[in-house]
Amino acid sequence: MPQTSYRTSSFAESVIRRMTRVAQQSGAINLSQGFPDFDPPEALLKAAVRTAREGPHQYAVTWGAPDFRRALAKKQSRYTGLPLDADAHLVVTCGSTEAMMVAMMTACNPGDKVIVFSPFYENYAADAILSGALPIYVPLHPPEFSFDPAELRRAFEQRPKALVLCNPSNPSGKVFSREELLSIAALAEEFDTFVLTDEVYEHIVYAPHRHTYFAALPGMFERTISCSSLSKTYSITGWRLGYVIAAPAIVNEARKVHDFLTVGAAAPLQAAAVTALELPDSYYGELLALYTEKRDLFLGYLDRAGLSYSRPQGAYYVMADISEFGWKDDVEFCEWLAREVGVAAVPGSSFFHEPVSHLIRFHFAKRSETLIAAGERLLKLREKARGQHG
Ligand SMILES: Cc1ncc(COP(=O)(O)O)c(C=O)c1O
Repeated sequence: MPQTSYRTSSFAESVIRRMTRVAQQSGAINLSQGFPDFDPPEALLKAAVRTAREGPHQYAVTWGAPDFRRALAKKQSRYTGLPLDADAHLVVTCGSTEAMMVAMMTACNPGDKVIVFSPFYENYAADAILSGALPIYVPLHPPEFSFDPAELRRAFEQRPKALVLCNPSNPSGKVFSREELLSIAALAEEFDTFVLTDEVYEHIVYAPHRHTYFAALPGMFERTISCSSLSKTYSITGWRLGYVIAAPAIVNEARKVHDFLTVGAAAPLQAAAVTALELPDSYYGELLALYTEKRDLFLGYLDRAGLSYSRPQGAYYVMADISEFGWKDDVEFCEWLAREVGVAAVPGSSFFHEPVSHLIRFHFAKRSETLIAAGERLLKLREKARGQHG
């Protein structure tokens, strides 16, 4: 049999998918894989029924159906404060996942270096490998997940082509402050670097924190390739609708990459999702209130269970500290947790480039009853952990 490519051999099975399997086998409540277990807005479901009947059912314009782009440009202009043009600044993609791949391939040549903050969402390393780029990891130090400006400067001194900015961050729940972003912007300017943003959690930022769009910082629009999607904002992770926003010259190149990768995102779903993009501002307030409630409910259980954690500032994940339980290996701890306590989490080591094994990640994008059931189980964690080793 011929050999498959060396590129694929460096990809391990996703730890999150593995934990999902362990959860299924042991009947654990799955707080590992980050998607909602509740429905999208009713108006959106109605629109999807309509487009299923009436179409369109054939390819849309490859870089996005005009109606969808117009609605997206209008909504994103409102939130970013940038005057976005539906015809010049957008590429509609299959989720932020494709958008990030497009951004990486548009910005980088094989052999170029890319700064990635660690811990990181696992796709970024894969995107770099697939596009032949080499990641330079800069640690976000727990428990605050702050970066050391000197460490970041040293990374820039290696002359990277791009920096990946996940804001708000998965897995840490960090929201970069405006000051932090300005310091990144100054380095990006000094070293003439692209910034590739992944802002899928842009509407899930807990008070008093605020989301700052990197592209909207002074002078940054020309070097930023902003990626995001409708997955998290409208609870439609399976619809696979995302986008790239960038300056026209970058968009022209990104469109070519996108065209050859996927041709386009699903035409009937783009048509239906115009309804989502036209929802009033109150929708985003309600979404945030919903997630704030879920966060507080779940953190309340972690407090009662006596687990320490970094308080999430955005997104819907929390990293809890398991050092006191004395396990050497967070993967074994998570397998034990799923089997014996009945809650599945992700071992933190799967997100870090550095050898960090004292953190695990839960997600709380679940119905209240699911979070309460998981929380009740976690209250027994301490008792069950007694006498265990690791
Ligand atoms: C940071 C981050 N980016 C991208 C994605 C995937 O987004 P999409 O569904 O738009 O591809 C996720 C999903 O968990 C995520 O956490």
